[in-house]
This record gives sequence, structure tokens and C-alpha cells, in this order.
Amino acid sequence: MQIYLAPMEGITGYIVRNAFFHHFGQIDKYFTPFIPAAKRFSRKILRDLDPANNAGIRLVPQLISNRSEEVLIMIGKLKDLGFGEINLNLGCPSGTVISKSRGSGLLRDPQALDRFLYGIYEKADVPVSVKTRIGFDSLEEWPEILEIFLKYPISELIIHPRLRREMYTGYPHLEAYQLAYDRCNTVAEPSAVSRNQNSGSDQKTPGISPASLVYNGDLWDSACCRTLLKRFPETGTVMIGRGLLARPDLACTIKQIPVEDLRGKLRRFHDEIYDGYLETFTGDKDVFMHMKEIWANLGKSFHGSDRLLKKLMKSQSASEYRIFVDQIFETLELSER
Ligand SMILES: Cc1cc2nc3c(=O)[nH]c(=O)nc-3n(C[C@H](O)[C@H](O)[C@H](O)COP(=O)(O)O)c2cc1C
Repeated sequence: MQIYLAPMEGITGYIVRNAFFHHFGQIDKYFTPFIPAAKRFSRKILRDLDPANNAGIRLVPQLISNRSEEVLIMIGKLKDLGFGEINLNLGCPSGTVISKSRGSGLLRDPQALDRFLYGIYEKADVPVSVKTRIGFDSLEEWPEILEIFLKYPISELIIHPRLRREMYTGYPHLEAYQLAYDRCNTVAEPSAVSRNQNSGSDQKTPGISPASLVYNGDLWDSACCRTLLKRFPETGTVMIGRGLLARPDLACTIKQIPVEDLRGKLRRFHDEIYDGYLETFTGDKDVFMHMKEIWANLGKSFHGSDRLLKKLMKSQSASEYRIFVDQIFETLELSER
């Protein structure tokens, strides 16, 4: 089983990725939070992509756009920076993104989606994967969207089986993932564009193989993963976001790699992120804001953390913050794995 860390804007930048890599590992691929396809990269994005800041990490840049020409230009620039694989974001539900018909906003218009993908896969000379939701408003949209995906040599199709309107509420629709799983097992038509650029072969090949489907959504522990694999035995890869932030050792647990001194590792994981944020952000306010996002998930690693977390979330100074962090690490039981 391969495990990918989900891209999370504002959270899984290089500081957090390095903390995972240094203290827990077992993550097979990391994805950058979405990068808007624009004329040039901002300093922040260049820092996030810098190989020196990602040593040893298999990193895939994620682009968000609705214009294939723009994506192709960005792919060229990313290749110049040494990247050999790109991911497209077709899932972001945020209002500002969908209002520009990007992210999950593009799923509202299947014809535009088809044109967008055609323009990219016709010319892209590196593997391009897609991360998607299953529709915008209604589950009925998924079969048509899926058929469009199946026309292209998508290197990996990462499915978060929720609609845009659901954001992160309710449960993932496993029946929608099932449809993709079944279709990938039966699809035999040639893809709309050949996979030649990606594989070095001129042969027309079927769109997506079952092994290239990646499941994403609400995997909180290894039991969730086992249940998923029982139902979808050919799914060899899962992408995990909040579950890994809540239990940074989750990839080890899933792969049955014992973790010694878990409490110490969690502490060093936290400290690496905190120190990294202190170096990166100018004011304490920014540091706390980002650390609170970390704790909103990491708090689940401890039993009965609510009271201390509440206090930590209100802390106004570095010394106050450290007192609550010490109390959490020194007094609370770890939650079961
Ligand atoms: C705060 C936040 C930021 C996110 N940013 C991105 C992003 O930049 N790109 C993306 O494809 N998905 C993004 N996502 C979605 C996650 O990658 C993932 O699909 C989602 O959290 C569901 O997976 P999980 O249940 O394992 O967390 C974000 C989610 C959250 C909660």
C-alpha cells in the first residue's frame, strides 16, 4: 500500500512536509498545496518548491487553473525546476476559486472540463495526475465527469468522493468511488489522446488502470484503511490529509512499522514545525494562527485534550503557548492507534 500526504493549503507546506519526513516517514508522495497557474511563481511558492527545502521528499506540484495553455506553460517552468510529474486540482471547493471556474468549479461544465483536459494531455510530456471531487451539486453529475476522465491518460486519478456543496461534511460517497473502480476495470476504449508522451510508447492505451485510482477521504486510522481495501482490493494507494495530521504516525501504523518513543517523536514533530514557523513568519500572531491549525488536528493524538487545547488556542504569548504545549505532551495519555 502506498500512502500520499494530501495537499492542504496553509498547512502542508515544506515545513510540515519535512517534519513528517524526518520523524515518521512512510509517506510515498507529498503534494504541494495548490499553485495558481499564473505568469510567474511568487517567492513563497518558489521557497516551497526549492529542492533544498524538500531534500529526500518525493514532491508533486499541484496546479489550479481552467486554461490548458496556462497549465502547459507552468509545466514547462516546473520541468525547468526539476519536476517530472504534475497534479491538477479539480476539487477545491472554496468560493473564490469556484467563482473563477477553477477547482471543483470546473466540474459544473463538463464540456469545458473536456476541452481543458484535451488541451493538456495532447501536449503534456510529463505524467499528469488529477485530484477531483465527484461533482458540484448532485451525485448524478459523476458518471458524465468520470467518462470524461476515462478518455485521458491520467497518470493517477485521486478521488475525494464528495460533492462541492458538501465541502467536508457528511460521509464520502463510496458508491461513486465504486463506479470509478468498476469502470476502470472494464474500460477498453483507446484514450482521446495517446499516452505516448508519458510512457515513451506510441500505442493508444485505455484511459486509467484500476491501480492508478487513488482513494482520498476520511481515513482516520488503519481500520478505516483495511475496510476500504477489503471493498476495493485493487486500490493500491490512498491519500490522507486530516488523518495524518491527527496521528502523524498513521502511515507507519497502516504499514505496520513499529514506532518507538511515539510521545517523543510527536514532540519533536511539533517542535520542528513550531521552530520552522518562528523562522518563517514575522509576528507571533502568524505563528500561533498556523500552530492552531496544526493543533486542531494533532489534538486528536491525545486523550481528553479539549480543556488544554481551548487554553492553548487562546494563548497570547510564546511563553503561554509553550506552557500549554508542555502540559499536553507531559500529562495527557496518547489516544489509541
Ligand atoms: C485546510 C484545507 C486545505 C486544503 N487545501 C487543498 C489544496 O491545496 N489542494 C487540494 O487538492 N486539496 C486541498 N484540501 C483537500 C485535502 O487535500 C483532502 O482532499 C481533504 O482534506 C479530504 O481528505 P482527508 O479526509 O484525508 O483530510 C484541503 C483541505 C483542507 C481541510
